[in-house]
Amino acid sequence: MKTILTTTAAMLLAGTCFAQAPQLTQGNIDGVIKAMTLEEKVTLVVGANRYAEIESGPDHAPGMPERKAQHVAKPKSEPQEEVVTAFSSGRVKGAAGDVVPVKRVGITTMVLADGPAGLRIDPTRKDDDQTYYCTAFPIGSLLSASWDPALTQRVTTAMGEEVHEYGADVLLAPAINIHRNPLCGRNFEYYSEDPLLAGLTAAAYIRGIQSQGVGTSLKHFAANNQETMRNGQNSSITERALREIYLKGFEIAVKDAQPWTIMTSYNKVNGVLSSENRWLITDVLRNEWGFKGFVMTDWWAEENGARQIEAGNDMLMPGTPHQFDEIIKAAQSGRLDMRYLDDCVRRILQVMVQSPTFLRYNYSNKPDLKAHAQVVRDAAPEGMVLLKNESVLPLKAGRKVALFGVPSYDIMVGGSGSGYVNRAYKVSLDEGLSAAGFKLDKQITAQYQDYVKGVKANQNENFWVVPVVPETAISAEDAAAAAKRNDVAIYSIGRMAGEGGDRKLVPGDWYLSDLEQKNIDALCDAFHKVGKKVIVLLNMGNIIDMNWSTQPDAVLHTWMGGQEAGHSIADVLAGKVSPSGKLPMTIATKYETYPSANDFPMSNNNPGDVNYDEDIFVGYRHFDRQPADILFPFGFGLSYTQFEYSDLKVSKQGSDITVSVKVTNTGKVAAKEVVQLYVSAPKGQIVKPVKELRAYAKTGLLKAKESEVVTMTVKVDDLRSFDNYLRQWVLDRGTYQFHVAASSQDIRLTATQDL
Ligand code: BGC
Repeated sequence: MKTILTTTAAMLLAGTCFAQAPQLTQGNIDGVIKAMTLEEKVTLVVGANRYAEIESGPDHAPGMPERKAQHVAKPKSEPQEEVVTAFSSGRVKGAAGDVVPVKRVGITTMVLADGPAGLRIDPTRKDDDQTYYCTAFPIGSLLSASWDPALTQRVTTAMGEEVHEYGADVLLAPAINIHRNPLCGRNFEYYSEDPLLAGLTAAAYIRGIQSQGVGTSLKHFAANNQETMRNGQNSSITERALREIYLKGFEIAVKDAQPWTIMTSYNKVNGVLSSENRWLITDVLRNEWGFKGFVMTDWWAEENGARQIEAGNDMLMPGTPHQFDEIIKAAQSGRLDMRYLDDCVRRILQVMVQSPTFLRYNYSNKPDLKAHAQVVRDAAPEGMVLLKNESVLPLKAGRKVALFGVPSYDIMVGGSGSGYVNRAYKVSLDEGLSAAGFKLDKQITAQYQDYVKGVKANQNENFWVVPVVPETAISAEDAAAAAKRNDVAIYSIGRMAGEGGDRKLVPGDWYLSDLEQKNIDALCDAFHKVGKKVIVLLNMGNIIDMNWSTQPDAVLHTWMGGQEAGHSIADVLAGKVSPSGKLPMTIATKYETYPSANDFPMSNNNPGDVNYDEDIFVGYRHFDRQPADILFPFGFGLSYTQFEYSDLKVSKQGSDITVSVKVTNTGKVAAKEVVQLYVSAPKGQIVKPVKELRAYAKTGLLKAKESEVVTMTVKVDDLRSFDNYLRQWVLDRGTYQFHVAASSQDIRLTATQDL
């Protein structure tokens, strides 16, 4: 008798007393929703953090809400032992958020973890000898600079395996906000000033991750183009600019690749918070584009939970007790119609039933890190952009190299903030060049290595703060001596940036510091005097002022190439790989010539409204009208060979326009070429840019003299512009020009098509 009673009590506690409650399956979502209590529904939509005590540590960025521990009594309706979250159990330690399971109806947790350049989880765990390092893959702007969706997909297929094998369900990536201004602190995570390039890169990214049975979260929806005052800052934009520029990339990625989830942004769009913006989330994203997954807030975007639910923002992350109470009250008082809440629950469950946790995937905690390191090494060279090369690159094997610049020795492999990755190691450039057989000047290398080691011993790197080792001076004497001893000088310039802050229009950030300028002067003077060359490498996720680029003989933008960066850069410098990356943004002659410079929030002391007055004229869409302000155009990048374009053909079949062009490698080394298709519309009702990128393709590796016919397709509908007054997409009739180009300023052939 006693045994029976005890068993019954245990069953009651474990919730099995509701044995008749339906259990979640693919086919039973509506049945489960019907059986759920209000508390259970709200439990699902408000993230698990409300139960958690987040450990102390580097937990907030300047200007960000503090990530405070939440001490709350659990709602009475939920038995304590039902709550097993990643936060509280440490199952995937360091994950950004998770869902509270509702075991009574078979709802499991889901683990959500950052971020774009690889999975961000804690690398070590208490009382556990195993390590949980993840691969630091190349950053977003390098992937888009490859103009190669297949490459992006290869990278993220590897990344997705880490997400799966470390037990997470959704990777909080990709991030695709438009590079409206070069100072945005998160541009390294984002892709481009052009929405087509951003959207197609994101679609490939999503396909790779989701091929591994885990989800993505396309973010930050929408118009989060600055970090300054991002919480609540208002992006004021015409509907045309939203539709054609700021939403377009999201639209492409959603339609092409259906991410499991989307993350709304912190800011307001035209006066309404993104997470409360029903027009954005329900009318456009779901009803127009057909998005099928669920939408979550960005972390701590806590305003009015009931309004967020009503807007169609299904999940509030990471979840606070206040949100829980507020939604319960709103539902009980009738202010929040239960239908909205049920819709949110349904959308979450539809994703959950595909998730590894729900499917009880027995993850190994042992992803193939070795194979992924090779993916990183092979991928990074494909996005590096050769900006200048006056008969110096590639370097012949065995050359004597004077390797200068602190970032050559303390290479930056990724940015800071939620896009940071806890990697096991990184390969610096001195290691990469030595392994590639170059002879580094021992004296110079030893000096830098000692200095970097000394400074780093007192620095602490974590995801919010990646400390930079200050640059050192190169004297004229040292430069002259180095020029005598070596064949060539390499100098690296680095910039760290990340979430929570924008970059600054000051020396040492947008501009070269005085020290960096003097170092370049000293090296160019000394090496040029004895007929030797200087190569400058950019090690950053974005761009800087480039007016100094007339001085050195070669400039290679290496971005932040992930943990194998030193090897990848050496592969390009040595000519093992001919560079084929092209700029995903315009480098202008002056910061002030970027049209957004008129209204980019430089400090927290501004009214919080950012007026996107340049409208659709972002990036090359603006600079095409002011070509004198371009230093390096959008789509530009040199190769170690040359390509000739011929046989341009444009034809229309139904709603598709097909463009083909023959690309021939006329130089001496094997290489790939990025072919860009820009279209100029006829003069019509609406003011149009000079031309717009409508398709692109990358050739395979073409040997000397080899050709490839590249075919690109454009849908007639994609040539429309959005009319602000009619509030619809409009196609102007007339003659369209189809330009195939090697960059936005290097049109090779043009053909026309009447529409
Ligand atoms: C970032 C998101 C990130 C989230 C979770 C936020 O601060 O804006 O991009 O996914 O934190 O870490």
